[in-house]
Amino acid sequence: MNIPHRAGLENFPPYRQGKAPRGIDGLRAFKLSSNENPYPPLPSVLAAVTGAVASINLYPEMAAEDLTRAIAGRWAVSPDNIGLGAGSVEVASQIIHAVTDPGDLVMFPWRSFEAYPLLATAAGATPQPVPLAANGSHDLAAMAAAVTPRTRVIFICNPNNPNGAVLSAAAVETFIQSVPSDTVVVLDEAYVHFNCDPDTAVGIDMFRKYPNVAVLHTFSKAYGLAGLRLGYAIAAPELVITLRKVAVPFGVTALAQQAAMASLRAESELQERIDVLVTERRRVHAALLDAGLPVLPSEANFLWLDSRDRTGALAGLFEDNALSIRAFPGEGIRITIGTPEANDRILDVARQAASLLAPLP
Ligand SMILES: Cc1ncc(COP(=O)(O)O)c(C=O)c1O
Repeated sequence: MNIPHRAGLENFPPYRQGKAPRGIDGLRAFKLSSNENPYPPLPSVLAAVTGAVASINLYPEMAAEDLTRAIAGRWAVSPDNIGLGAGSVEVASQIIHAVTDPGDLVMFPWRSFEAYPLLATAAGATPQPVPLAANGSHDLAAMAAAVTPRTRVIFICNPNNPNGAVLSAAAVETFIQSVPSDTVVVLDEAYVHFNCDPDTAVGIDMFRKYPNVAVLHTFSKAYGLAGLRLGYAIAAPELVITLRKVAVPFGVTALAQQAAMASLRAESELQERIDVLVTERRRVHAALLDAGLPVLPSEANFLWLDSRDRTGALAGLFEDNALSIRAFPGEGIRITIGTPEANDRILDVARQAASLLAPLP
């Protein structure tokens, strides 16, 4: 059957989900390929979700007024500044749909979050990737120089997925000032809770100063609600109104709304878990360096091995030890920080790897 489809989709790869770990006899398997939170939901969050389950025969409240108010209160902004979606990936998609005409450009650093080019293409816009600088940071000067009148949306990913690199407030502010004030600059802060860099750009601060900034946050990572799908934008009311127009109706379930409100009430408990993950990230980073592996500094809940042409061999070693990681052939490997037990396994593999693999020149 020959079903016509939109031009360009024949070369359009679907989003690639992080792999499940391979089962190996005698080894507990750990999935470290999707930057998920390794801890189960808090009892108070489970109770909120359980309380909402009895009503799943009903559509959710589309405006999600209570949650919108709770998030707005959390950031001391107006509810008119909050746009919700089924994960921040859906909110990113809403922004592109709301702002671009067919053929307009959506700029992003590359390599970065793999969904950016896919979301742009799916919306009928044209992806405009700008290579990262040699140190793995966004090349903000090159991005500023590449802006054209058709560049309508620019993603900044801080910390960047997959390498964990952070942008300073000064660098991001200079960048925002250099782009036209009607270009939407999206500060994607999916990993903001793990970012302890004192000089980092802070999305909400940029938003308060520059109305063309939209901040993207998610409940998937630090809050551990990846399976319920909830993210939001903090943006100018004019933009939020259009986001609500292009959002998939009823995309945010009642379970997600209840879980998110319970999570906001439990932020101090969640912070303890975030602190553990940050401590573990530092421990694993230091031990990988000690083992001689090319690990970069990271302010997210994952680490990046700059393994280049050794990526295949190294990835195989992790997989053979019941760890799924995210390998980018020829580039590197992203490893999510898990429980201490999972992280100890990473370090076992790293020590085997160091003796197997010749050091990079
Ligand atoms: C940088 C970045 N932004 C957004 C997302 C989307 O997360 P979610 O749709 O679960 O909120 C991810 C997920 O991996 C990410 O890495």
